[in-house]
Amino acid sequence: MTEGEGTTEERPRLKEYEGEGITVTFEPRRCLHAAECVHGLPEVFDLSRRPWVLPGAAEPARVAEVVRRCPSGALQYHHRPEDAVPEPPDSPTTIRRTPAGQLVVRGDLVVAGPYGDRHETRVMLCGCGASGNQPYCDHSGPCAEPDDEDVPEAR
Ligand code: SF4
Ligand code: FES
Repeated sequence: MTEGEGTTEERPRLKEYEGEGITVTFEPRRCLHAAECVHGLPEVFDLSRRPWVLPGAAEPARVAEVVRRCPSGALQYHHRPEDAVPEPPDSPTTIRRTPAGQLVVRGDLVVAGPYGDRHETRVMLCGCGASGNQPYCDHSGPCAEPDDEDVPEAR
């Protein structure tokens, strides 16, 4: 699990959804509504349902493949609890700046933040300084979008 590998006691708020052979975690503050999840596997990710994630509704490999499309890293998965970094990171690492100023990074990452150093494979970092969830973008700045009220989890 990629949660809180640093030395601080505080931990990011994660929701956990268990399925047969795979557990999906969701960090609401990092969700930026790219909707890759709901478009990629609507039987698993359904905003009109509670819980909105049902990992057992598809093959674990397929669930993992769609989770890896989540650009913000809000969605992560592990096949076994002892998997520290279950997801194979992209190589080489890539960094892309969006027109709104976010930094989209994929690779074998260690991100320093309020929870200590976290191993990550996908992040969207704040490029404007306005985010209240640094170093991650939280749509507080010029990157804000009309659907920002529709954050899953609440979902
Ligand atoms: S969980 Fe990830 S893929 Fe799904 S809507 Fe949020 S940012 Fe997009
Ligand atoms: S780039 Fe989105 S809050 Fe800063």
